[in-house]
Amino acid sequence: MQTLSLRLNKRIKDLLGSSTLAITARAKELQSQGHDVVNFGAGEPDFDTPQTIKTAAIKAIEKGFTKYTPSIGINELRETIALKFKKDNNLNYKASQVAVSCGAKHSIFNIIQVLVDDGEEVLIPVPYWVSYPEMVKVAGGISKFIPTSVQSQFKITPKQLAQNISSQTKLLILSSPSNPTGMLYSKSELEAIAEVCVKNNIFVLSDEIYEKLVYDNAQFTSIASLGSEICDLTITVNGVSKAYSMTGWRIGYCGASQEIIGFVNKFQDHSTSNPTSISQMAALAALREPEDSVIAMRKEFEKRRNLMMAALDQIPQISYVKPDGAFYIFCDFSKLGDVTEVSKRILDEAKVAIISGEGFGAKNFVRLSFATSEERIQEGIKRIKAWIQKNG
Ligand SMILES: Cc1ncc(COP(=O)(O)O)c(C=O)c1O
Repeated sequence: MQTLSLRLNKRIKDLLGSSTLAITARAKELQSQGHDVVNFGAGEPDFDTPQTIKTAAIKAIEKGFTKYTPSIGINELRETIALKFKKDNNLNYKASQVAVSCGAKHSIFNIIQVLVDDGEEVLIPVPYWVSYPEMVKVAGGISKFIPTSVQSQFKITPKQLAQNISSQTKLLILSSPSNPTGMLYSKSELEAIAEVCVKNNIFVLSDEIYEKLVYDNAQFTSIASLGSEICDLTITVNGVSKAYSMTGWRIGYCGASQEIIGFVNKFQDHSTSNPTSISQMAALAALREPEDSVIAMRKEFEKRRNLMMAALDQIPQISYVKPDGAFYIFCDFSKLGDVTEVSKRILDEAKVAIISGEGFGAKNFVRLSFATSEERIQEGIKRIKAWIQKNG
């Protein structure tokens, strides 16, 4: 008799589980046994969703806005997103060039399925967000990883990009500010990358989900704003999860050419249909409300980032590249031995949950999230320091 795995779809059977899951599960287990675990594993803001957004959702329920909507979102929301793209990013997408999905993850998944054909190559800079390569597998595509280093601040160069392009290359995925490194590509760096993509007719998926979380007055640039040719090749992905602390509401969106959006529409018609009607009304309120809550959250994250860096600076065995954005510090732990093993031991013995870089394609590193209070940051780094002094 055939085993179940032999009878699975060949694209699905090789999918990797989420690498953050094992640590998160173990952290929860320890907590349920009564241990006080410091969580540096979080991939979401620890703030509450602002009240005006919640109120908009409650009103939507009360008014009976609880039925199907068009698959890629209500017109009002698509129009508001088009205005947001214009105001924040200098992008001229019309509402008809916008698709709303169930989180930015869903937007990215849809775009990859719509664009990437069997055997086509997708360029992914390393370290990468864990889901990109798995989504490429589902499409039957091939991930081609472009290595980066601490010296290049975890960013690819135009030269490297050009060297990795083949006749099979379809798409480049850029995450800026990046999960897991927090690195932000500058306007001039993006111009150089755009030039290579236009010359070689490569699509760009620009994952801008951490756009609002940039520090030290750094300037965020959308690659699609750098000219009409690169705009035609770019799919700009964003969402409300990180900026408005709305991870559970599941609203993401993308802007792209009318043709691509047309296929995202068909794909969504036959899979999820619309993102939740109530969440769409909440997202509408989020995008229309003044940016006060976003600014307050950004300030708080910047303070926490500085605090975590200052604490890490007291540990000579650990180094990192200062993140420009997002809420992660990607730390080199290689002086401590096998980093995946060390991460497990730090959780079990010091009760601090940290994410090994293995799942991000960087096994010498760990990702520390500062989406937790200042007091917990101090406590967690103190425990890591003590663990290293004992074992390092
Ligand atoms: C780089 C990156 N892109 C996309 C997402 C997905 O966000 P959403 O919650 O909108 O699906 C995440 C969430 O962790 C992320 O880190």
